[in-house]
Amino acid sequence: MNVSFIGLGVMGFHMAGYLSKAGHNVCVYNRSQDKVTKWLEKFQGTSANSAQQAVKNADFVMTCVKDDASLRELLLGADGVIAHMKQGSMLIDHTTASAIIARELAAVCGENKISFLDAPITGGEAGAVNGQLSIMVGGNTDDFARAKPVMDVYAKNIEHMGEHGNGQLTKMVNQICMTGLIQALAEGISFAEHAGLDVEKAMAVVSQGSAASWQQQNRHMTMIKREFNFGFAVDLIRKDLDMAITEAYNNGTSLPVTALVHQFLADVQKAGGGRFDASSLITRLP
Ligand SMILES: NC(=O)c1ccc[n+]([C@@H]2O[C@H](COP(=O)([O-])OP(=O)(O)OC[C@H]3O[C@@H](n4cnc5c(N)ncnc54)[C@H](OP(=O)(O)O)[C@@H]3O)[C@@H](O)[C@H]2O)c1
Repeated sequence: MNVSFIGLGVMGFHMAGYLSKAGHNVCVYNRSQDKVTKWLEKFQGTSANSAQQAVKNADFVMTCVKDDASLRELLLGADGVIAHMKQGSMLIDHTTASAIIARELAAVCGENKISFLDAPITGGEAGAVNGQLSIMVGGNTDDFARAKPVMDVYAKNIEHMGEHGNGQLTKMVNQICMTGLIQALAEGISFAEHAGLDVEKAMAVVSQGSAASWQQQNRHMTMIKREFNFGFAVDLIRKDLDMAITEAYNNGTSLPVTALVHQFLADVQKAGGGRFDASSLITRLP
């Protein structure tokens, strides 16, 4: 299969690597060249000088960029990527973006006789590195069946959530659930430190009980050491919570804890931690 991957960030770099290891003809494109150079050093494949050139012969095009604005800039318009894709091919968007843009991309793809799936991912950097992502997909059933074997190479779980946009709405559920967990973990660690406990021991025992979570297992050690130069950037989770809060406003959900942690993350951003992992929420606590 000819597969093009656009966006070799923390997540896309490894996902594109798994497609290459699975034997597909992978052509990568990234806005800045350094990531392309690193990718070509590590994996088999080719690169293109422009996104438009990268997708010309592709059966599948995967995107994993930043947000709605980057998707618009990259994909839409007379010279956007969609206009350069071949009829019958498929665009799979792994970006965490709004349900609104997912539906818009689906409509434009439809006009161009291209299939589209919104397929945001979860599992963090470790999930991408280990090919163990969880993917929530919006789109039609036949397209999902066609795409699943291709995405399987970097996923441990792929769920079809229904119509276009439902992948992104499901991802919002993930972000809402995750946000409070990280803040609670920060508060637990801070409490253990102030109480004079052996913090590592306390978190190890707690992680075997009813407070266990992915965040707990994967983040407590780095939080104790105040290491944040990896993972899921504060800038990105703020963007995700913006979308979830807007969607909640429109559908009548109340998200008080999510809204509060959204503000806490803004404090971390203002203090210069926009690229820190979201577990840097602990830096706000005394
Ligand atoms: N990191 C995580 O743990 C995680 C987990 C789940 C989901 N996500 C989501 O997955 C997506 C990617 O995350 P990431 O952590 O891989 O982000 P990242 O490391 O910041 O990478 C972002 C990528 O998007 C590209 N990009 C940004 N704006 C662009 C534009 N206007 N046109 C073309 N390319 C553009 C960047 O290109 P440059 O290199 O040129 O800047 C880079 O390749 C985001 O939507 C994020 O919310 C991330």
